[in-house]
Amino acid sequence: MVSKLYYKNKFIIRLIKPIENKRLFTALKLNILTVKDYQLWPKKLIALDAFCQTGLQWTRIFSNEAEYLEMWDINEEAIKYAKKEFPKANVNCGDSIDAIMNGKLHRKDFNFVLIDSPVPFMYPDGSFEHFKFFDSIFNNIADEAIIMMDVVPNIQTMLDIHPHPKEFNEKWINARAKFYGVKDGGCVLPQVMTEIYKSKVEALGFKAKLVTYNARNAHFGILTIAVSKN
Ligand SMILES: C[S@@+](CC[C@H](N)C(=O)[O-])C[C@H]1O[C@@H](n2cnc3c(N)ncnc32)[C@H](O)[C@@H]1O
Repeated sequence: MVSKLYYKNKFIIRLIKPIENKRLFTALKLNILTVKDYQLWPKKLIALDAFCQTGLQWTRIFSNEAEYLEMWDINEEAIKYAKKEFPKANVNCGDSIDAIMNGKLHRKDFNFVLIDSPVPFMYPDGSFEHFKFFDSIFNNIADEAIIMMDVVPNIQTMLDIHPHPKEFNEKWINARAKFYGVKDGGCVLPQVMTEIYKSKVEALGFKAKLVTYNARNAHFGILTIAVSKN
């Protein structure tokens, strides 16, 4: 019997390997399912995907559930495809950071915000990740909302596969040390990070109903925050 199971598993692994190797972004799906298990997922989804690219990797995971979907990317070519793939969505080519910070989004009652910002990356103004606009996200959400963002616990694991000049790494570490209020910005473990986000959310006048980290792949993860207005 064990041998039957063994050969069955070997066969399944052979079938699944090419799919796993293509990294099909199941991490986001699992995160959403987790939030649903906590009964925190919005019934009428008003979603903002602020760094959507073509939308074929992440947006498609939740787009069918959205009553309203707003998508932004600064890359014109990506947006051309996004418009084709998501004809019912409000698809925008432009700087979503500026839109988030300066009230240029089309709604202010988003109950799901996805921030898949580029990493490792320094924006033209010298800022990194979501640090500059994190607080402003909260000016654009409903009284109950879910925010999911890319976070990087240990930048070295990411820099090992995406090497950058020393100067870039130092600037990134400094920006992280400042945002997280820690001594070593290079490594902020999930258990430390979740507590820091909890404090930030509470300082912004929201109750943190859930703050949790899940790995997205071997190099970084998704930070999920469920909030309600105090
Ligand atoms: C990590 S990719 C997003 C991938 C996408 N979520 C997906 O799953 O396919 C980051 C995206 O951010 C976009 N981007 C960078 N800076 C931006 C900005 N200021 N405003 C809007 N989009 C920006 C890039 O063009 C890129 O498509």
